[in-house]
Amino acid sequence: MREPNPDKLNELAGKLVGDLGAAMAGASIVLGDRLGLYKAMADGEKVTSSELAKKTGLHERYLREWLSAQAASGYIEYHSDKNAFSLSPEQAMAFADESSPIFFAGAFDIVQSTYLDEPTVEEAFRTGKGVGWHDHSKCLFSGTERFFRPGYNANLVSSWIPALDGVEKRLRDGAKVADVGCGHGASTILMAKAFPNSEFFGFDYHTPSLERAKEAAQEAGVADRITFTKASAKDFPAKDYDLVAFFDCLHDMGDPIGAGKHVRETLAKDGVWMIVEPFAHDELKDNLNPVGRIYYNASTFICTPASLSQEVALGLGAQAGERRLRKVVTEAGFTRFRKASDTPFNMILEARP
Ligand SMILES: C[S@@+](CC[C@H](N)C(=O)[O-])C[C@H]1O[C@@H](n2cnc3c(N)ncnc32)[C@H](O)[C@@H]1O
Repeated sequence: MREPNPDKLNELAGKLVGDLGAAMAGASIVLGDRLGLYKAMADGEKVTSSELAKKTGLHERYLREWLSAQAASGYIEYHSDKNAFSLSPEQAMAFADESSPIFFAGAFDIVQSTYLDEPTVEEAFRTGKGVGWHDHSKCLFSGTERFFRPGYNANLVSSWIPALDGVEKRLRDGAKVADVGCGHGASTILMAKAFPNSEFFGFDYHTPSLERAKEAAQEAGVADRITFTKASAKDFPAKDYDLVAFFDCLHDMGDPIGAGKHVRETLAKDGVWMIVEPFAHDELKDNLNPVGRIYYNASTFICTPASLSQEVALGLGAQAGERRLRKVVTEAGFTRFRKASDTPFNMILEARP
């Protein structure tokens, strides 16, 4: 056996202790989220496990253990003098407030789906076959909506759309917008709320996601402005759209070039294709960081298998980067392409015929 370097070994073991704790804590976050525990503590009041049991109607002994695990994770505060627990304002934003820009709890639904679906993906590694988006556990669909929605809330209307040349004015005046691969419709609904003179068309091939999108549009009071229809990125109906938007879905497609060619045929004169993709640098070595770690793992379990399940099976992966995406868009026949904006999690790309 090769001789390990003791310092490097210690460093790796220390990191793995932290990672093992995080991997275990993921399930505790899902549990607390589903049982409404974070929301029950959102006011910041100190509570003992008995008080939380009374407040939530849940079993005290279980709560005591969950609270201890949360405190050990640093997700809630522990007050040893009173044997009580509380959420700081920052922790409440991350775990209890769905509208906050740093709401993280919902994203752990995705983590749960990766564990639940690991056997299916494991088999796909052997056969090389794809695993469709629709083949995953239901928590992937809610998790994706809840992972991306805080970023859309914080940026889509205030900075991403204004970063596209001339698009904001067109949407204010009244435009036709297609949101392709819309999933639960978080982005469609947000745009429909912000631009009441415009008409929105959400498309996705996944029927259960569209059902949820329709419900959400009703709840948000914008159902009259949005039509959700089952269609793939290569056959959604052409309506001379001023804007066609793809939110975090181009890389999930087997034939993103074919999708781009179709987008070109559906756009109005001077129409814009907005492509929102996971943030990535062009080179793997530059993506070896915490955000790249999340995306490469999601891409292993979700995005790459989804692309490999569809025709052409290009398998862009969630860390395709601007250079590869430019190639896709150019091969689809678009002549103008630029990065309009970015955040730590997303790149906003603008393409014109
Ligand atoms: C990662 S989710 C993103 C959902 C949504 N846009 C969002 O940002 O929350 C990818 C979506 O693309 C859809 N999708 C994948 N391939 C597709 C295709 N070829 N045509 C239409 N939709 C597709 C999936 O059903 C899924 O809803």
